[in-house]
Amino acid sequence: MCEEPFMNAAAISSPRVLVIHGPNLNLLGAREPHIYGRQTLEEINSSLRALGLRLGIEVDAFQSNHEGAIVDRIQQAAGAYSGMIINAAAYTHTSIAIRDALAALSIPIIEVHLSNIHQREVFRHNSLTAAVVTGQIVGLGPAGYLLALRALADLVPPALAIA
Ligand code: DQA
Repeated sequence: MCEEPFMNAAAISSPRVLVIHGPNLNLLGAREPHIYGRQTLEEINSSLRALGLRLGIEVDAFQSNHEGAIVDRIQQAAGAYSGMIINAAAYTHTSIAIRDALAALSIPIIEVHLSNIHQREVFRHNSLTAAVVTGQIVGLGPAGYLLALRALADLVPPALAIA
């Protein structure tokens, strides 16, 4: 009997990174451009996907204005992604639910903020999520997302997929 040579063989596939954008980030480009800049969310996502191609990382992006939807997406990332970038926006400062969902993951997570939250209003200085992520990048605008993806490229092992 002739055996299928590659059946059940473990194959290396590209690592996958999920980028999560929180509330009001769908308005980037138009929203307070003196703070958040002129790049739209789609432009940021496109530049992440382009860098991902160069780094051999598949990039998926998700935006929601709803806390529960973000919690659901974080939960669904377990087993499906090998790294995460999150800008939880205003929920960074308020959401224990998002913090707990992140804490339940065992993949590297980079928290990004376009603005330097520590230079702004006092209520933005505290991040509930900072203590449960791998690292935080603030104040560098859209470049922060690209740096986060470069950091993940070093942190995540190539994904093992069962062929
Ligand atoms: C933000 C900073 C948050 O304080 C704010 O609520 C945002 C965006 C940033 O990227 O700078 O919506 O996360």
